[in-house]
Order: sequence, then structure tokens, then C-alpha cells
Amino acid sequence: MAHENIPRRLVAILAADVVGYSRLMGEDEEETLKTLRAYREVINGLVGEHDGRVFAGAGDSVMAEFPSPVQAVRCAVRIQEELERRNAGLPEGRRMQFRIAINLGDVMVEEGNLFGDAVNIAARLQSLASPGGICISDSIYQQIRNKLPLGYEHLGEHSVKNIAEPVVVYRVLTAPEAAGKLLAGKGPRARSRRRATVAAIMVLGVVVAGIAVWLRPWMPGMEPESEEPSAFSQVVRPTRHFRVERPAELAGADALTIYDRIRDKMVASYGRSNDAFSTVYHTWRRYNAAPYLSATHGKRYVNNYANDAARAYGRFEKAGTLPVGSVLAKDSFEVTDRGDVVTGPLTLMEKMPAGFNPEGRDWRYTMIMPDGALFGTTNGESSERVEFCVECHIAAGAERDHLFFIPEQHRTRFLNPQKSPD
Ligand code: HEC
Repeated sequence: MAHENIPRRLVAILAADVVGYSRLMGEDEEETLKTLRAYREVINGLVGEHDGRVFAGAGDSVMAEFPSPVQAVRCAVRIQEELERRNAGLPEGRRMQFRIAINLGDVMVEEGNLFGDAVNIAARLQSLASPGGICISDSIYQQIRNKLPLGYEHLGEHSVKNIAEPVVVYRVLTAPEAAGKLLAGKGPRARSRRRATVAAIMVLGVVVAGIAVWLRPWMPGMEPESEEPSAFSQVVRPTRHFRVERPAELAGADALTIYDRIRDKMVASYGRSNDAFSTVYHTWRRYNAAPYLSATHGKRYVNNYANDAARAYGRFEKAGTLPVGSVLAKDSFEVTDRGDVVTGPLTLMEKMPAGFNPEGRDWRYTMIMPDGALFGTTNGESSERVEFCVECHIAAGAERDHLFFIPEQHRTRFLNPQKSPD
């Protein structure tokens, strides 16, 4: 009973930290610190307004305590709303988003600082929140669920480092349509319910703040589906090739000129991965006339290649099920608001023998980062990271073999100079 005399109290702990802080710092230290300082002020102000107190915050993190879970969650929602509003005024690459987690627990107080499992759990749960999103532990959920106009998604049990018991986690849904709803979610033990959740979210049309990925408007019958931050948003930006003058007004021909200038370098850096296709995909036939902006693939300019086995891809909607050995490759580059041209990820779909992954029509999805690092590959390294590919591509439907094809205005049959038409 050594700690008998240390004062304790029951509090809601809010932990927040910046998404991609080191990338932001790497790109522009001064601007990043300026934004961080401004955003911290916003957070401090809102914490105060909700009867809370910031008790710690090193680097890019903020920790606050609240006597009331309801106030803590209200505060978190306000923080994310306010920061989203401010981010909208910044160029895309300079936006700073926070992940927030809230947990309730009995903590020790020493010289104004708080200690204990409850604090550690809050800090750990942050990583489960989407950028711009909020996660809460079950202890908070039980206190607030009927008291706020919010929805919740059950994320299942998560084990937390150095904590014996797993913690049940919920994601807070702020869209008005979600209010009062509890969605089954995608905890490690709730995978089979995931599809239902995605469907439920589509029906609700829930729009959750975050770096959302949207299906493009040309896809008939599809409601925007967000909920997850796209892994595309985590892509690092190692190579800046050059800068263009008026990035917003890039026409197809300009995009093609840019692409021609950087393609060899792009291929060389993808080639640092061990993926055999990454060094040869550019010799396959290309099916788009010029690089076009793909909202679903991280708002980057993309190109679509298919190997010989995947020739039917050129019949687009009439392609049917592609044969085993078909490989589709999509490289990408980004032109930032400032006009910087930077390589984006390379994504691949390879048709594997039946049984490989029936849920995903046996496609192996792979994503390679612009610097050649493997982000993940289905049933291989970091397989879980590319599950979001399957989840979106499934929406294309089995009769289309989970393929979306290229928006019509960008299609061509034989533009790749290295591949003559048949
Ligand atoms: C939010 C939905 C979404 C996600 C997530 C997504 N894709 Fe796609 N993908 C599309 C759409 C829509 C197209 C076709 C239009 C385009 O190019 O934007 C496409 C096209 C493709 C193509 C060309 C074949 C085709 O369907 O026409 C490949 C290859 C591909 N995606 C791979 C991936 C990989 C690998 C991932 C995960 C790292 C991924 N996609 C994640 C929506 C998505």
C-alpha cells in the first residue's frame, strides 16, 4: 500500500495527437510549428470551455482531463469540427489533423500531472481513431450513449500494451443521420459483420470527418462511403520532381507531359520493392489516354496498365472474369496545391488461383509506396493494410469481377507507345 497517500480521482482523459507529424515537420518545420501552436490554442480554449484542463502535451500530443465524460466527448467533437474548418483554409499538404481518444478511469494525481492505466489507455487508443476522428473506450460509451446526439460504431476489443484486459472501443460518428445509432464494427473479432457495417454506413450515407475517400460521381447507384481514413492518405512523399505553374488548371495534355518526364524515375523507385511487376508494368498496354485525377485513389493522377493475360480489361464493362495471371497496375503522381509534382503509390491487382481469397474474387491487392516500400499485400506482408482495397472494390460487383474500369472519357485502347494495338 505504498501509494495509499497519493491523491486520486475519477476523470475522463482526452488524448490527442497529430497525424503524420514527422512528414509535416520534414516538409516545412516552421509552418508546421506555426499551425501546431495555433491549433493547440484552439484545443486549450475548447477544453477550458468544457470544464476541462490540459495537463500534459509534449511535441504533437495533448492530454486533457474532464470531470464529465459528456463534456469530454462534446469537447472532442467541437475540436474536430473547428480544426476541420481551419484545415479547409490551408493547402492540402499543410493540413494538420488530430486523432482523439477518450477514456474514463481512476488516476493518481501528482503535482498537477495524472498517472495510471487510464491515462496510458487513452494515449494508446488514439491510434485507432481516424484522422480527424474520435474513439472512445467502453467506459466512456456507457456514460454518454443516451446523452448526446451522436452515433457510434463498435470497433471490438483491442489489447493495449502493458494492460492485461482488452479494451472495448467505439468510434464516434458525428453525421446527423448517425445520431442514436450503434453500428456493428470491424473489431478483430467482428470481421464477418464488417460487410454489413459498410452497407449500413452506405445506407445512412454517413459522412464522417477525416481524409475520406469517395466513390466518384460517375459511378451509378453508389452513395459516398467514408468512415475509414484511406491508407492512401498515409503515403509519404519522398520525391519532388519539379513544380508546375498553375496546378489547378492542368489539362490532360499537360498531365501527360508531366508523366512522360517523371515516369522512368517513378518506375525506378517503385522498383526498389521486391515486387516483380513494379519494374515491368510500364511496358504493358496502358488503357487511359492521359493521366486523370482519381478521387478514389487519393486524389492523384493515375494511369492504368494491364498485362497480356489481362487483355480483356480493354473490353471494360464487358470484360467478365479475368483469367488467373491477369495483372492490373495503377501508378500515380500528385500535383500539390503549390504545384509540386510528387510520386504517389503504385497499386496492383493480380488474379490468383481459385481459393486464394474468395471474398475478394481471388485478387491479390498490393500497394507500393513512392519510395519502393511495400505498404501491404493480400495474404502476405501487412495484409490487413490492404483490406480497404477489397472493401471498396467489392462495390463494383462480382459480375464485374470487382473491377471499376476507367471513367469513359479517359479510356483508350492503344496509347502506350511501347505496345502496339492488335
Ligand atoms: C474508395 C474506393 C477504392 C479504394 C479504397 C481502392 N480502389 Fe482501386 N479503384 C477504384 C476505382 C473507382 C477505380 C477505377 C477508377 C479510377 O481509376 O479512379 C479503381 C481502379 C483500380 C485498378 C485498375 C483496375 C480497375 O478496377 O479498373 C487497380 C489495379 C486498383 N484500383 C487497385 C487498388 C488497390 C491495390 C487498392 C488498395 C491499395 C485500391 N485499388 C483501393 C476504387 C478504389
